[in-house]
Amino acid sequence: MTTPVLEARDVTMRFGGLTAVRSVDFTVNSGEIVGLIGPNGAGKTTFFNCLTGLYVPTEGTVSYKGTVLPPKPHLVTKAGIARTFQNIRLFANMTVLENVLVGRHTRTKEGLWSALLRGPGFKKAERASEERAMELLEFIGLAHKRDHLARNLPYGEQRKLEIARALASEPGLLLLDEPTAGMNPQETRTTEELVFAIRDKGVAVLVIEHDMRFIFNLCDRVAVLVQGEKLVEGTSEVVQADERVIAAYLGEPFEGDPGAAEAPESAAAEAGAVADSTPGTTKGDVQ
Ligand SMILES: Nc1ncnc2c1ncn2[C@@H]1O[C@H](COP(=O)(O)OP(=O)(O)OP(=O)(O)O)[C@@H](O)[C@H]1O
Ligand SMILES: [Mg+2]
Repeated sequence: MTTPVLEARDVTMRFGGLTAVRSVDFTVNSGEIVGLIGPNGAGKTTFFNCLTGLYVPTEGTVSYKGTVLPPKPHLVTKAGIARTFQNIRLFANMTVLENVLVGRHTRTKEGLWSALLRGPGFKKAERASEERAMELLEFIGLAHKRDHLARNLPYGEQRKLEIARALASEPGLLLLDEPTAGMNPQETRTTEELVFAIRDKGVAVLVIEHDMRFIFNLCDRVAVLVQGEKLVEGTSEVVQADERVIAAYLGEPFEGDPGAAEAPESAAAEAGAVADSTPGTTKGDVQ
């Protein structure tokens, strides 16, 4: 039986005169992988920010498993929603393992400061946390790099490490903002398998991507956002064939061959910018 994990109702986000997200209703059910696509500037990331409490929506509500969420990132994480960011946010000078451990702080009684300061009571919780963090690193295939600094990982592995850190908060819903941006085709395929494996562990997934092959292979359902409004929502087949989606976004019917209908210009440009700037600009953000 499917039950709603996430329910966004009538979510609107305005920045001054600009309405970036307009009256969006959106549901993700348990066991689902749902895609969110749309042209650059359509409001996809803004919508994620509304879901995770980074932005307080101008109007509307966001519920997780039937409870309306307060728009505060740490409370949203604690409730069970985790995310990754379009621009990678890792602790560049911490190790791979430490980055995942930081992601666990909402689930450990000791909390972040005790973890960082090695306070009393921490040692016992530390062992259990480290075991769980190593399990997650095995799961994403980075266990062998546990002691490497995050900044020294290749770009594709940094993206995967972000996913491991998000999973460390033991979410029921994972939001991925362009998880394959800047990845080569091989890394993209392994990320696809990783998302299926995450779903199989009982975590619902909502994913933003410009790589249409990735989206249409992966998602049970796809929603299309155009100028802040949900234009169409349905199975991959329905969305691919919709004339309005073709006109507003795809440009031509999606044929399924690699790169046929991708809109990679922003992703690639951003990936380049991120890869260049990651060590210097990564923020200590653990939402
Ligand atoms: N904090 C903000 N203040 C003002 N305007 C914003 C803010 N954040 C986003 N916007 C605007 O809202 C619109 C939607 O941007 P958003 O980043 O959500 O698009 P997107 O669909 O994620 O695009 P992309 O595919 O390029 O990542 C854009 O016009 C953007 O300039
Ligand atoms: Mg975006």
